[in-house]
Amino acid sequence: MPATVVVGTQWGDEGKGKFTDLVARDMHMVVRYQGGHNAGHTLVVDGETFALQLIPSGVLYPHIVPVIANGVVVDPRVLIAEMDQLSAKGVDCSRLKVSGNAHLIMPYHQELDALHERHLGAGKLGTTKRGIGPAYADRAMRTGLRVQDLLDPKIFRQKLDVALSHHNQVLTKVFNRLALDVDAVATEYLEECAPRIEPHIADSVALIHETLDAGRDVLMEGAQATFLDLDHGTYPFVTSSNPVSGGACVGAGVGPRDIGRIIGIAKAYVTRVGSGPFPTELHDEIGDYLVDVGHEYGTNTGRRRRTGWLDAVMLRQAARVNSLSEIALTKLDILDGLDSLKVCVGYESDGERYDHMPYHQSVIHSAQPIYEELPGWKSHISAITDQADLPSEATDYIEFIEQQVGVPIRLVGVGPGREQYLDRAL
Ligand code: GDP
Ligand code: IMO
Ligand code: MG
Repeated sequence: MPATVVVGTQWGDEGKGKFTDLVARDMHMVVRYQGGHNAGHTLVVDGETFALQLIPSGVLYPHIVPVIANGVVVDPRVLIAEMDQLSAKGVDCSRLKVSGNAHLIMPYHQELDALHERHLGAGKLGTTKRGIGPAYADRAMRTGLRVQDLLDPKIFRQKLDVALSHHNQVLTKVFNRLALDVDAVATEYLEECAPRIEPHIADSVALIHETLDAGRDVLMEGAQATFLDLDHGTYPFVTSSNPVSGGACVGAGVGPRDIGRIIGIAKAYVTRVGSGPFPTELHDEIGDYLVDVGHEYGTNTGRRRRTGWLDAVMLRQAARVNSLSEIALTKLDILDGLDSLKVCVGYESDGERYDHMPYHQSVIHSAQPIYEELPGWKSHISAITDQADLPSEATDYIEFIEQQVGVPIRLVGVGPGREQYLDRAL
């Protein structure tokens, strides 16, 4: 049975957590394949809100095996805190598996992330300052520590010595900060964290393949999104991993033939947190309205998200680079009551029209959206469970996006709750 992938199609916070949780109902295993605790995935179940960072969004179901795969960067201190918070709410985390090959986020990664941002000044990326970029950089430099190193104190110390001999030079000589103490870091990770993480460490590749081979359903949960992808996003204003669906292959250890359904999550408008180009960004009262009504503040960092009209050029590109088989359109209810809605159907830059995402960053920065305007609807749609009850303008909006992007919209979110969605295939 091939796996299903959930992937963000914009700049993150599209509602991946909600739809992962929903689709997970019929699955056996949910796998996070990249990113770290820069993610914030919100689920609302029976009125209770859960904000997940590292633990896969299927964890709330007792029948799901949640897996943090090799492609994720894990801060063990955050993982322990998240397990404790979930346990306090009655969620059983004992089934959680963590790949021994996943890389560890170390205290110096977090410090370097913040220092690097300060160094960039006005050109900062607006990272979450969680140490994500420096941890992936160490992985690429082959000086990273992995989850499995927590099981071997001697090797852990050796690797930490090598990593800190370099990073302490950077901290003290480049940034004029204090050096980190090897013993203090080793004590925290080996004595406080390792005993809590050890029972969860597993060979995630073997586990995933055993599950697939048994004909059971596996869901791969992407964090971040297509336009935050290191290769396919608006570089350098991106994260340091590959959220695109192909990232699920590398980050979980499956081949492309092991993937079937690929669900792209798209918000009915667009948001972005952090720096970088945003062709349809709104700087007017409609932008403020979307922030207020959509509660567009970061799940983790609390930062106000930038808002704009839906961008079909982005979605066409997301359909291409992810091989989307369907789209789940979220937060359609937030558009309730607007007189009219704009959808960007192309860009214009320097007298040239672009129907597909331009590869050149200068063009993306200067792109002016070409809009088509559609009528809004005046009623509230949050309580609707059957697509036949949607106002005709809402159906027209959905069908216009489908036609522009060339991918069917199967699921539509009409509220934050687990049950607030429409399945258009029914
Ligand atoms: P993620 O990072 O992609 O999982 O998304 P976030 O959880 O960061 O942000 C999405 C926010 O929208 C969360 O607060 C969700 O509870 C909420 N949400 C998701 N789908 C819907 C929807 O269809 N309607 C409304 N009103 N809220 C939604
Ligand atoms: P979820 O999974 C939205 C953004 C940051 C910054 C850039 C790089 O909840 O959709 P990083 O800390 O990763 O080096 O920051 O990426 N970013 C996100 N934006 N949602 C996220 O996750 C994000 N994770 C990272 O704001 O612009
Ligand atoms: Mg989020």
